Amino acid sequence: MPSSTQTLLAQATGPRRNPPRAVLFDAYGTLFDVYSVAQLAEQLFPGHGQALSVLWRDKQIEYTRLVATSNHGAHYQPFSVLTRAALVFAIKKIVAGSGETLTQDDFLLAYGPAIKMLLAQYQHLQAFPENLAVLQQLKAQGIPLGILSNGDAAMLQAAVHSAGFDGLLDHIISVDPVRKFKTHPEAYALGEQATGLEARDILFVSCNAWDALGATWYGYTTLWVNRYRLPFEELGIQPTRTGSDLRAVPDFFS
Ligand code: LAC
Repeated sequence: MPSSTQTLLAQATGPRRNPPRAVLFDAYGTLFDVYSVAQLAEQLFPGHGQALSVLWRDKQIEYTRLVATSNHGAHYQPFSVLTRAALVFAIKKIVAGSGETLTQDDFLLAYGPAIKMLLAQYQHLQAFPENLAVLQQLKAQGIPLGILSNGDAAMLQAAVHSAGFDGLLDHIISVDPVRKFKTHPEAYALGEQATGLEARDILFVSCNAWDALGATWYGYTTLWVNRYRLPFEELGIQPTRTGSDLRAVPDFFS
């Protein structure tokens, strides 16, 4: 083939990149279904299960940003603590919406058991159905795998164990030691430090558009798993690829 034709082809298709050398997954929303608590929430708060699970998740992420950006991180608390606080807020909002007014003591007396049950469920979130097989396939191909999550170590270990992922992940990286949450660069840097690889050689996989965006900004090769057919963030840059579930990950290696 004449070299001018080769050049034209390269321009048309872009240079062929080597496959990533490791894969890091976001945990909550990507490996573990945070909305799987809706069923228990529905039993505890009939008619509000779905709303409660969404409110809980949104408030949890909002709290990570609130503590991370205020007073230079002086109000940092681990994700497990923020998760509990977000759940209390979400329940209070639903209770208030039904016209009930309670003192803090009465609230805890009435809803303490529900809080405990929902937090226990959060330790055992369902994994998305295809995830185990995808992780097993990648592991069999010898690709280093890990989690890079806002979650703290104990909750991540519990979720990994409960989902049957023991032995599949080489790295379970929590942001807690740096007391920053994604999308802070110090949080994403932990992935490079743990793997010894540069971000562009690591495939970072997240179902959360904000996380896929943050990781792309940081320099990772990224896959946004768009499970809910949502638009991507409107801030200019796009993830390296978009897929509809985790089965899009092995495509990077074929
Ligand atoms: C995680 C959450 C925020 O980092 O999705 O696992």
